Amino acid sequence: MKILVVGSGGREHALVWKLAQSPNAVLHAAPGNPGIAALAECHPFRAEDAEGLLALCLQLEIDLVVIGPEAPLVAGVGDALRRGGLTVFGPSAAAARIEGSKRFAKEVMSAVGVPAPALLDEPRAPCVVKADGLAAGKGVVVCRTQAEADEAWTRAAAFGGDVLVEELLDGEEVSVFALCDGAVARPLPAAQDAKRLLDGDEGPNTGGMGAYSPVPFLSEDEVNDVVDRVHRPVLGELARRRSPFVGLLYAGLMLTDDGPRVLEFNCRFGDPETQSILPLLEDDLLEPLAAAAAGRLGDTEIEASSDAAVTVVLASPGYPEAPEAGARIGGLEAAEGNGALVFHAGTALREGELRSAGGRVLDVTSVAPTSAEARERVYEAIELIDFPDAQFRRDIALKAVHVSG
Ligand code: GLY
Repeated sequence: MKILVVGSGGREHALVWKLAQSPNAVLHAAPGNPGIAALAECHPFRAEDAEGLLALCLQLEIDLVVIGPEAPLVAGVGDALRRGGLTVFGPSAAAARIEGSKRFAKEVMSAVGVPAPALLDEPRAPCVVKADGLAAGKGVVVCRTQAEADEAWTRAAAFGGDVLVEELLDGEEVSVFALCDGAVARPLPAAQDAKRLLDGDEGPNTGGMGAYSPVPFLSEDEVNDVVDRVHRPVLGELARRRSPFVGLLYAGLMLTDDGPRVLEFNCRFGDPETQSILPLLEDDLLEPLAAAAAGRLGDTEIEASSDAAVTVVLASPGYPEAPEAGARIGGLEAAEGNGALVFHAGTALREGELRSAGGRVLDVTSVAPTSAEARERVYEAIELIDFPDAQFRRDIALKAVHVSG
């Protein structure tokens, strides 16, 4: 089966890595990255270039397209490929509005009684201010003081769309994922990501500085319960609105004292959560993705091992405001030789040398029987990587270790 994975980050590298384990997979990527290039043939097409991607798929006779990032999904790249006769894992633009418009997501949740934070009439601290549309991770601001709320409102309004204000909830944030075929949803292991730059959840928001899975304060039964109460009703409502969701539905939840509350939906795999989740899957990933894309997920089971995975992101100096690119990177073979998986998130080859080429550069994952061991191994592996002045958090999965060891 010929597969095209669209995207160029660590999430897409993890998807390609997992799909490459399927005996039938012949892998292509667009545009890909130097890590992906070791496993798939890369083609220089941007993820948003629907016309170019369609021509590429037809030329390569691609059987399945897997779209990684949200921007092409919200922009309708999946629709353009489907119109061209392709089978696509990833929602239509209409269904991707569940991520592309926070107001739309609120309407859908309210229609089916999914518990979510209350909307407020004005930005009065404490609160959360959200720009309605996609904002490259900069659209949601937690405001504890009135000055923060006023500034967040001004910034969110500058994106040009609607602005939402929500009550600020307390609790642990977790990500719960389900593969969906438009009608059926199948859970994957839950994860927790680290959104802030610095240890202790301090510093500016980022695209994500690390993740771990499973989450000790959300059992497998509780994950199934969330998928029953959140993903399945939302899937039903989207189908009722004639925009069935085919792809990965990601619910960002706050576990409050009054039960889980949905903070947001994403219409694709989490990044960097995917880099922790996929190494835990015991089953083939190609069959469930192909089945979801073809609307026949049925009883497909997706078994995960009982191990724990920890992913730590190595970011460029200056990230997230002004990342410096061009640093020479080495030692990846040594880290991999030590048992780690090293996913490329923002790298480039310059005259045969691996260089940093983005804010988040490498995602290092270790898997072990306990989160404590996985944590120990991932930080040992990072010591072997030569990336001058890399920023990374030293407390990824510490919470899991404190809860479960
Ligand atoms: N880890 C957050 C996200 O994928 O949006």
